[in-house]
Amino acid sequence: MQKILIDGGVSLSGEVKISGAKNSALPLLMATILADGEHRLHNVPDLADVRTTCKLLRELGVDAQMGRGVARVTNSGVSNCEASYDLVKTMRASVLCLGPLIGRFGQARVSLPGGCAIGTRPIDQHLKGLEKLGAKVQIEHGYVDASARRLTGAQIVLDMATVTGTENLMMAAVLAKGTTKIKNAAMEPEVVQLAEVLVTMGARIRGAGSESIEIEGVTELKPARCAVIPDRIEAGTLMVAAAITNGDVLLRGVHSEHLAALIEKLVEAGVAVAESPDGLRVKGPARPRPVDVTTKPYPGFATDMQAQFMALMVLARGTSVISEHIFENRFMHVQELKRMGARIQLKGSQAIVRGVKQLTGAQVMATDLRASASLVLAGLVARGRTAVHRVYHLDRGYQRLDKKLRRLGARIRRSRARPPVTIR
Ligand code: EPZ
Repeated sequence: MQKILIDGGVSLSGEVKISGAKNSALPLLMATILADGEHRLHNVPDLADVRTTCKLLRELGVDAQMGRGVARVTNSGVSNCEASYDLVKTMRASVLCLGPLIGRFGQARVSLPGGCAIGTRPIDQHLKGLEKLGAKVQIEHGYVDASARRLTGAQIVLDMATVTGTENLMMAAVLAKGTTKIKNAAMEPEVVQLAEVLVTMGARIRGAGSESIEIEGVTELKPARCAVIPDRIEAGTLMVAAAITNGDVLLRGVHSEHLAALIEKLVEAGVAVAESPDGLRVKGPARPRPVDVTTKPYPGFATDMQAQFMALMVLARGTSVISEHIFENRFMHVQELKRMGARIQLKGSQAIVRGVKQLTGAQVMATDLRASASLVLAGLVARGRTAVHRVYHLDRGYQRLDKKLRRLGARIRRSRARPPVTIR
């Protein structure tokens, strides 16, 4: 398995282009199930999860090919409505094929995604919503079996603003008979882009970006042509990289309105953030001020930025409290940061971070996508060498983050981890 080696202490400088958003590309790729023809998705990031999604589409009989940032998807009819355990176990977001399959073909058999490092992550809201739309849903042998003659529009009130739940139900409803209302819908930019692209395909959707989305079912859709929005979490991660190294970095191709909550907290911490026609310029402070953060659904502070922001607060001149209110186990990075000298105390959903002046490099283990980003950020500023193991976590959601950081001056490279020596 590969690892990332970082020799800390360099203040980053220069400019970096933000890639397309993973969490927009995945639902958009699944939306190609809804219409026959030649779909074209531009600005698609080259990520493990995108490649997995294309593989899933091919398993369903849809020809999905990725090349130079463009996904060319030729749907000439789905030959199989099953997403296998082997695929879903590698990527939970595979569950996003459920809505389009049941919505268009009246059947779907999708392996139940298991839990993951950050939480149990059930899909009860997805299934409850499909039943409201008239699907018969059974769970057996670890699979969701859903069937319906044709879905019929209904009012669905979600218990919480689930992102992929909103996306799945929106994709199920676009071909249903009648009108569907999704209440307590997620408002993330990725949900909005999915709705916008579905509308360009011929769907009738209003209210995306608010907590109430109305979908009037149609009988047929046409292929998608779109460009994926910039990845606000990659952008946020690189903003923290500039801040934590007291650097001066220009981020190109970023939608700053998607980052309002993070920008507010970075400015509170003493980071200079300036918007210009060229992009977003971020200049770090010599040492950040402590800032309390609570993760919330969009437009609140993103849970996907919690681990990265914590890395910054580890070096603050004072104590900050970071509260994780979206997932029940999203502090896996804490133990690893403590091995680098961080002073963090966990109390339920809160992490009390007492700032230190200096971290030291160490061998650390990535456990999930954003935790691995947090460890890379800490390594950029730690004294000495940090080795981040299990880098495959990082590659699921970042398009060569190490390369982008190296171009900004970081002393960072990949190396193949030697297999553990077994002493006989
Ligand atoms: C999406 O996951 C993102 N993934 C996650 O990004 C992100 O962390 C999350 O939204 C929250 O913003 C994609 O978009 C592919 P949720 P999702 O359903 O949809 C509970 C990353 O790092 N819940 O909004 O799975 C759930 O347990 C990834 O890029 C139910 O209880 O998240 C969680 O506590 C990680 N029942 C909360 O809701 C359900 O049926 C929010 O989850 C659905 C969700």
